[in-house]
Amino acid sequence: MTLREALEREASGTSTVALAAAVERLIGRYRAVAPARDPILARPADVLAYATYRMPATYAAVQHALTQAVAAGLGSISTVADLGGGTGATAWAAAQIWPSLDRVTVLEQVPEALDLGRRLVSGADLPPITWTRWRLGEPVPEADLVTVSYVLSELTAQQQADVVARAQTSARRAVLVIEPGTPDGHRRILAARSALLDLGWTPLAPCPHALACPLAERDWCHFSARVNRSALHRKVKGGELSHEDEKFSYILAVPSAVGGEPAARVVRHPQKRKGLVELQLCRPDGSAGREIVSKRQGPAYKAARDLEWGDAWPPAD
Ligand SMILES: C[S@@+](CC[C@H](N)C(=O)[O-])C[C@H]1O[C@@H](n2cnc3c(N)ncnc32)[C@H](O)[C@@H]1O
Repeated sequence: MTLREALEREASGTSTVALAAAVERLIGRYRAVAPARDPILARPADVLAYATYRMPATYAAVQHALTQAVAAGLGSISTVADLGGGTGATAWAAAQIWPSLDRVTVLEQVPEALDLGRRLVSGADLPPITWTRWRLGEPVPEADLVTVSYVLSELTAQQQADVVARAQTSARRAVLVIEPGTPDGHRRILAARSALLDLGWTPLAPCPHALACPLAERDWCHFSARVNRSALHRKVKGGELSHEDEKFSYILAVPSAVGGEPAARVVRHPQKRKGLVELQLCRPDGSAGREIVSKRQGPAYKAARDLEWGDAWPPAD
């Protein structure tokens, strides 16, 4: 069973009008980017609404980040702990990357989110998942990879620092933090990146270096993942398009360098024109800028034609 099928099964008894109203309310609340004194996902209807409109997008963003980290040399991962894991979107994405995971632990404060997450995975071919009621400040089990996806914006600055520190102390191999791909989301990712670097960790993706972010002053580093919208998704979120592009910023850091020489990162959609590809790159020397790959460059041009926003350049063999 796919995530899309599981969501359709769960939503089948619920009025899509009520779900759409809850989605609209949640979108407004998350746009406000303000620390939440009480859980935003307060009622079961909010939890189901959140799952239907956000899980496919979160899944796509996490899958992108983990795919890039694997390409950059992150080895096999056996266990994952997901802090503020909601209804478990990260568990689905991690399982898609590493189908033979020993265990994913979803740690979340809202019991209804854990209940829905548990129901969604029933009948799906996923690794074992432990659903744990958890509040920031409580212990986190050790895991190879610790993830924090779309959580920071509802925390105070101090809580944001705490959750990143807690992720780092519990992670054996890697920490992944993901936020919306907005200037604000990127600022939170930069703070998480600085904290991880101060603790002696190294960025593996998307940054090809541990120097200052060259995009921080004039731009913001973000990526995009295409999400095919189901009929349910279109109904609850409105709009007719068969897809949407989820924009996100992320940092995946590791305790010490892995892989070979870091490659540059493509930080915008490559512009593909007749006989040339124009790339915007973040480079291992800490600079960012344009590179033109022309047809005269033969195999490099062929490789550049296949590049997507967020890929490494040159690609690993
Ligand atoms: C926007 S949702 C993201 C859920 C999930 N990570 C995802 O990407 O689908 C933020 C989650 O963080 C949880 N959260 C916020 N503050 C928390 C806290 N202090 N302790 C535990 N969980 C918290 C919320 O309950 C919510 O499920």
